[in-house]
Amino acid sequence: MPAEHPRIRTFEEYQDAYQRSVDNPEQFWAQVAEPFTWRRKWDSVMQADLVGGHNKWFSGAKLNITENCLDRHLEQRGNKLALIWEPNDPKTRGLRYTYRELYQEVCKFANVLHNNGVEKGDRVCLYMPMIPQLAIATLACARIGAVHSVIFAGFSANAIADRVNDAQASVVITSDGLDRGAKQIPVKRVVDEALESCPSVRGVIVVEHVGWPVHMQEGRDVWYHEEVAEVEKTCPAEEMEAEDMLFILYTSGSTGKPKGVVHTQAGYMVWTDYTYRNVFQVNENDVYWCTADIGWVTGHSYLLYGPLLAGATTLMFEGVPTFPSPGRYWEVIDKHGVNVFYTSPTAIRSLMAQDINHVLAYSLDSLRVLGSVGEPINEEAWHWYHTHIGKDRCPIVDTWWQTETAGIMISALADITPSVPARAGLPLPGVQPVLLNQEGQEIEGNDAEGYLAIKQAWPGIIRTTYGDHERCRQTYFGVYPGYYFTGDGARREHNGLYRIMGRVDDVINVSGHRFGTAEIENAINQNSHVVESAVVGYPHDVKGQGIYAFIICQDPVDSTEAPRVEASIIETIVAEIGRIAKPDKIQFVSGLPKTRSGKIMRRILRKVAEGETSNLGDTTTLLDPDIVKEIVEGRK
Ligand code: WTA
Repeated sequence: MPAEHPRIRTFEEYQDAYQRSVDNPEQFWAQVAEPFTWRRKWDSVMQADLVGGHNKWFSGAKLNITENCLDRHLEQRGNKLALIWEPNDPKTRGLRYTYRELYQEVCKFANVLHNNGVEKGDRVCLYMPMIPQLAIATLACARIGAVHSVIFAGFSANAIADRVNDAQASVVITSDGLDRGAKQIPVKRVVDEALESCPSVRGVIVVEHVGWPVHMQEGRDVWYHEEVAEVEKTCPAEEMEAEDMLFILYTSGSTGKPKGVVHTQAGYMVWTDYTYRNVFQVNENDVYWCTADIGWVTGHSYLLYGPLLAGATTLMFEGVPTFPSPGRYWEVIDKHGVNVFYTSPTAIRSLMAQDINHVLAYSLDSLRVLGSVGEPINEEAWHWYHTHIGKDRCPIVDTWWQTETAGIMISALADITPSVPARAGLPLPGVQPVLLNQEGQEIEGNDAEGYLAIKQAWPGIIRTTYGDHERCRQTYFGVYPGYYFTGDGARREHNGLYRIMGRVDDVINVSGHRFGTAEIENAINQNSHVVESAVVGYPHDVKGQGIYAFIICQDPVDSTEAPRVEASIIETIVAEIGRIAKPDKIQFVSGLPKTRSGKIMRRILRKVAEGETSNLGDTTTLLDPDIVKEIVEGRK
């Protein structure tokens, strides 16, 4: 009998597990890893390197993560539901897959990939709607040892091309089109446009979903339904090394183009499984729903891998919270008897702005645990979620983590460790957070605030940024050598609970989506009207942060021209990144506040964007102090 996966049940057990993970991490993680299916066990549990960023876990082990997600459940859970798919339109029929069915679908897709020349180590990009084939294709890549890179299907053709080229992907998987709320998006056409500048791509596999006619390029594009008709229902899983790449996921940093965060086989598996089981406290017969798109890390770790590793029933929703009505989420919860629900503060804030009758129309009786992720949740939203959705009986787990951490780092464990409004709470076993001051010294004791860093490696720590380890080292390990630097600021309160204060770098978090200010500025600067721009974030009631762009144009823009120039700039941003990066406010300016060395003083722009214009601080070191007056007066 294999050992059981350890699950914390009481606060004392949490304290004990935490202490053991600090005192003897090797022993702790060896125990956690024990119950998985390994083709070969590891030679060493951890090789931590928080200076060079060369972190390794379970070296020497051999495995395939899909054997752990699927094959090992077949005997006991073959007929249990693995995946429930709820379509965009409630009038469309949904789909359900048992573990056996999902296993077969993954094997079939894996065989199609093989037949299309995909081999172990090849990179495959996926640009798809939230349909079962996205989950299936992602797992199929893992099954044959191909590295998946899922690109959120809201990014533009240029953004796809950047990611495909960076990864040198040989195959792209897409669909004919996509339904999102009342909107339809011709996904294949976007991919076609992207691939005009992607010489590495040899093949495109197209899943038929909305039934639109699409252009199929001879010799490159194939229909999935034609390819799958002739393949076997089984496909042996490729034997992978613990540190072989599992996936690349692009995310924005404070400089340059988005970077490809790399996670590997064994550590990712152990970490997502352990955090999933313990944070959400999911029971065998629960229905679990994470509303994130698989195009983001939350979808990877807590819609797909975490729940399937744990043998849970995971719900995948194609649509949006407000279509066809703002009661859609609550309807889905009642319809499928969802017990554990995990969503974002932005979704909560947008739904709490609606008529409460959209909530009251549903019982929500099945709910037992609520989760929040992606951005700080404000107290008002927390209380609304707790009272109206959780009916005061469901604990809220406010989970802090990042693409780079692969899984949840600081959070309540449902009903076990404290859940306090707007506080992420205590660190998970294995996570040793510290607060650093400017000089990189640890701030001791509680009631302290500083830069949030982590001083011990954990199994899900970022392994590299694809093709450029130096960038990974500099960004995460070079800032304060010996620590993983998160880019967030945090407070440790009197009781040891952590409160995340938001980014301390030039990353803005809009509706839980990360953008680098430089990334948006680069996009804006592509527009022929524009000479220079500066982008900052500002507090936004629904999105958490909004995007405020200060733009200098070639020629002065008067009020009659402004709408046209603005529209043209927005079009450029949509083409360069996607609609999700559209600024909320654009202000045309004749100059930017710069120091004599030419550095933009973002502090001032941030204050203007926040509306705190009475307290701009010292502006005497500026090259042209008068510009501040103009900017304040023209504030949007
Ligand atoms: C922010 C999403 C406060 C934070 C999983 C982090 C949060 C960034 C929380 C990572 C939370 C995420 N409370 N802030 N519970 N969760 N963040 O990579 O600034 O898309 O650095 O990962 O989101 O965003 P990412």
